[in-house]
Amino acid sequence: MSDISIESTLQEERLFSPPAAFSQAAQIKSLAEYESIYARAQANPEQFWAELAQSELHWFKKWDKVLDWQPPFAKWFTGGKINISYNCLDRHLTTWRKNKAALIWEGEPGDSRTLTYAQLHREVCQMANALKQMGVAKGDLVGIYMPMIPEAAIAMLACARIGAVHTVVFGGFSADALRDRLANGQAKAVITADGGWRKDAIVPLKIQVDKALENNACPTVESVLVVQRTKQDIEMLAGRDIWWHEIQPTVSADCPAEEMDAEDMLFVLYTSGSTGKPKGVVHTTGGYNLYSHITTKWIFDLNDTDVYWCTADVGWITGHSYIVYGPLSNGATAIMYEGVARPSNPGCMWDIIEKYGVTIFYTAPTAIRVFMKMGEELPNARNLSSLRLLGTVGEPINPEAWMWYHRVIGKEKCPIVDTWWQTETGGIMITALPGAISTKPGSATRPFPGIIAEIVDLDGEPLPANSGGYLAVKHPWPGMMRTVYGDDERFRKTYWEHIPPKDGKYMYFAGDGARQDADGYFWVMGRIDDVLNVSGHRLGTMEVESALVSHPSVAEAAVVGKPDEIKGEEIVAFVTLNSNYAGDDNLIKELKKHVGNEIGAIARPGEIRFTDALPKTRSGKIMRRLLRDLAAGKEVSGDTSTLEDRSVLDKLRGND
Ligand code: WT7
Repeated sequence: MSDISIESTLQEERLFSPPAAFSQAAQIKSLAEYESIYARAQANPEQFWAELAQSELHWFKKWDKVLDWQPPFAKWFTGGKINISYNCLDRHLTTWRKNKAALIWEGEPGDSRTLTYAQLHREVCQMANALKQMGVAKGDLVGIYMPMIPEAAIAMLACARIGAVHTVVFGGFSADALRDRLANGQAKAVITADGGWRKDAIVPLKIQVDKALENNACPTVESVLVVQRTKQDIEMLAGRDIWWHEIQPTVSADCPAEEMDAEDMLFVLYTSGSTGKPKGVVHTTGGYNLYSHITTKWIFDLNDTDVYWCTADVGWITGHSYIVYGPLSNGATAIMYEGVARPSNPGCMWDIIEKYGVTIFYTAPTAIRVFMKMGEELPNARNLSSLRLLGTVGEPINPEAWMWYHRVIGKEKCPIVDTWWQTETGGIMITALPGAISTKPGSATRPFPGIIAEIVDLDGEPLPANSGGYLAVKHPWPGMMRTVYGDDERFRKTYWEHIPPKDGKYMYFAGDGARQDADGYFWVMGRIDDVLNVSGHRLGTMEVESALVSHPSVAEAAVVGKPDEIKGEEIVAFVTLNSNYAGDDNLIKELKKHVGNEIGAIARPGEIRFTDALPKTRSGKIMRRLLRDLAAGKEVSGDTSTLEDRSVLDKLRGND
């Protein structure tokens, strides 16, 4: 990484103000209100967070100290006693919300289930007692390897209830990936299911657990709790494996929530490092509860009449913070869907919105591009009038995809919150507050109150407006990760030392390139590791990709640099096409010209390769690292365990 600034080429001038009626009814109603809250938080972050912790959460015992900051290690609300499962469940039971729908679940084959707060509480208590019977105690680590069924959320809340640390491993990961994570965390137990439904097929889960535990590879794992979902044949190992439906009727539905220290570990979630083994991101109880709670409340502008749907999987942080903990802590009604849009049911997402009257819809740019490719006839054939707010997360959204989302799904009346954050940050950091901040397609807009974000160079010096640089955060916040599990040194090196601390002041280094425009809006240009360097110009991948996607033939694009003797790097673009377009030489010429016109000759791809699909992580991120190897004609190196679909890589290799 060299310390030259990153050039930004995206010219996006469109501005969309929140509809007046939306603002009037919103939690944060105007720019002036946002700015005054922001200024108050900036002037005294500790007081700001303490006031919210007091007013928004239930504490068994109040904290002694708001923030104990021994850089880069932060402790929030030390001395405080709290339980996030209590805040998500018990406290709603003494209100009218007791019989309000907490989770509305829709299975892929079309089955469905609604759990009220009282019902969810009951099942969580039962599973907590089952875990206790299995010998799981406070402080033990439990692996959760589940399909998207209510029991995935129940398992997380059950662990939190008894003070066990959960580590959710996405159900699409292999037995190897599961084994690594269980072994690294020295898990005491695993909660899984026989299988789950995805794209009309059964994803076997229990078989993978069996493989992961083979040959005593995870000697600490004593028991496996198995939820029956798909009913295919599986083996149950006597003395180790227990059916949930067998133990559930035998355990008590009474299980008081353990009083946890605010800094007790809540969960470890593994995220892929760009190289090397995945990092176990550690989040603790009190600060995470507050941060996921208040960001959900203000950013999604939650009301009791809302039906909120985040399409993520619980296997990644978005599912943790914005399907389970944030919405439930707020007493909201959340939808949970097992499946995805697929050829046999391409309109399923829109059917669910119509069926349940979804008001808030939160998804990823990668999903939006799939919806675009499937065609607007599908959403147009459904009644989506219940929607009032849309959100995106996961990567920079191409302005064309933003405009489509705005027009076709939001019918030009729903604000879009483009939410920038990371597994490491615990919750959303940069976003519009929908009633207060006007949006620009492709910009995550402004920092959440209490978040002091800046664009800096590698000396930590702030850069002027519109200069691309490194996205950094200057003050600790309650939802921040506490360390890398078992590796404080890696935590320090990865996040706190790229920008050397000055006068004892540390900055959190996010690893993203970004710029701030003259209005203070943030534009994320992509991961630093992905930045292109063409003839000494450092270009973000996102902007070149957006130029490609703005051509009618292109569904998706990923650009990488390939070593070039003269230019340093030449741009290679991997492109998937919309149906009706043929990937021939004429189109290659046209696309090169198009990018040249949109951005300038410097960004013209030297090479364009058409492909059926791009290699992505399960959270929908394009794995440019793999494409870089392919473009350079090298064998793919590094960790590929987070790849969603391995066959994509094999196909691309064939193309080579
Ligand atoms: C990285 C974090 C946050 C939960 C999902 C992914 C990219 C995420 C945005 C956005 C531009 C974004 C960044 C970030 N990213 N959201 N709205 N605009 N970039 O979590 O897997 O930890 O990935 O995703 O590059 O660093 P994650």
